Amino acid sequence: MDKIIVLDFGSQYSHLICRRIRNFAVYAELVPYSIPFIKLKQMKPKGIILSGSPSSIYDDKHPIPEKHIFDSGIPILGICYGHQLIVNNFGGVVKDANKEYGSAMLSIKNNSNLLSNIGKNTRAWMSHGDEAIKIPPHGFEITASTSRSHAAVIENTTKFIYGVQFHPEVVHTDHGIQILKNFVLKICLAKKEWNMKNFIDDTIKEISKITGDVICGVSGGIDSTVTALLIHKSIGNRLKCIFIDNGLLRIDEVKSVQEIFSKMGIQIITINAQKRFLDQLKNIYDPEKKRKVIGKEFVKIFSSYANKNKNLKWLAQGTLYPDVIESGISHGPSSVIKTHHNVGGIPNWLTLKILEPIRDLYKDDVRKIAKILNVPDNIINRHPFPGPGLAVRIIGEVTRKKLRIVRFASRIVEEELMKSKIYDTVWQAYAALGDDRATGVSGDKRKIGNIVMIRVVNSTDAMTADWTRLPYKILERISNRITNEIDEVTWVSYIISSKPPATIEPQ
Ligand code: XMP
Repeated sequence: MDKIIVLDFGSQYSHLICRRIRNFAVYAELVPYSIPFIKLKQMKPKGIILSGSPSSIYDDKHPIPEKHIFDSGIPILGICYGHQLIVNNFGGVVKDANKEYGSAMLSIKNNSNLLSNIGKNTRAWMSHGDEAIKIPPHGFEITASTSRSHAAVIENTTKFIYGVQFHPEVVHTDHGIQILKNFVLKICLAKKEWNMKNFIDDTIKEISKITGDVICGVSGGIDSTVTALLIHKSIGNRLKCIFIDNGLLRIDEVKSVQEIFSKMGIQIITINAQKRFLDQLKNIYDPEKKRKVIGKEFVKIFSSYANKNKNLKWLAQGTLYPDVIESGISHGPSSVIKTHHNVGGIPNWLTLKILEPIRDLYKDDVRKIAKILNVPDNIINRHPFPGPGLAVRIIGEVTRKKLRIVRFASRIVEEELMKSKIYDTVWQAYAALGDDRATGVSGDKRKIGNIVMIRVVNSTDAMTADWTRLPYKILERISNRITNEIDEVTWVSYIISSKPPATIEPQ
């Protein structure tokens, strides 16, 4: 398959570049900027994109790729920091501390292959600290400028080297996708061969080659379900699916997961580990510690099962790309936001190898795969549920009492959203609980009770999210039902923070 390689210099948008390219059916992969040139060449890229970066080429230890990349003859597009690397490498001048953030009008001087089909003036999103003030001497020309960036687009059509000072991958650049398309399809001449059907075929082919059995933790969520299905299609009953009831699940979750898998013809082994998880979580208040404890317990159960089954060699997980990025284990330099249990909690002593077939995909890709694999709609449309379960929706210590309240309140939220046909239109909807208490009245008596927080968000890939503007009538019904049906609760609040600055889960 033709592919474009994106060298990651640590920009928050690096993976977005891949995503945009994959959306027009060309395979794109993000790799660390430090990849040795020999390895890069072996990947046979049709083109290379140099991403942006939080660094400046004036920083002492700024990231630079191997020099051979620039002389390889493979078409290169530098974005922002990547653009400045090109200018610097070929003998131009980059000036530091010349900041420009936000929207700028790009005037196109030459409708080159890179800039075709975008008109004469277009809005481009700038986010840079340094600026190219003198372009390299041989074969480079400026094809577009903004009022503040003279060399906003530079091109060397003999060497197939291009640089843009702005970010074509973000939605605020009006014709950004067209520019990426022009580079990938007209300059690199990459063929449109990437689609989920091919991904499924290639993945099955790859997994079929592995030796040894695979153990897969399933949760009934779409990620682990699709992971299990892909592996089951590759190696059949050499896949052992384990469903751990960690005591942090929602009402009826165990029964419904068992039914889902039995309908798909995949056997699952359910392990009741409620007590050991809840015991381990006693007196733990720190969210990161909770995740680590839960991750560790999961792995302990898996490896003790594996120790009894000599043929098991692999542990499969439904890790998605946002989990990887947010755990700081992405391809490039990215800071830790939260440790997602299926990424950060894997200890060194685990002897099983890790199989993560959907690690480079986003949720919407996984949904497309699920449709192709005929996964029932109620699973495809089921809201994501975090691996550490209700523990991340309970602020402070996880107790049986708090779990009971969160379970019932979440059930009410889900029921009301389903009744009003809103459930399928939102990304996630749940109840959370902390230790704060508030006064209420019951009959004629004052009563101190719990405060339940309701969170309903819209999102497309969980990287960003906005709170859902639920109609007051529905909020009122949810609140009334929670305070009437759950005796301990006196107050209900609605969380109106978007991500960022908040995250989707409270912990
Ligand atoms: P946050 O809270 O980080 O969540 O905005 C982003 C998405 O990831 C889910 N989530 C998790 N999934 N293990 C998981 O498997 C985790 O530790 C975890 N934490 C959050 C969350 O539900 C949302 O969809």
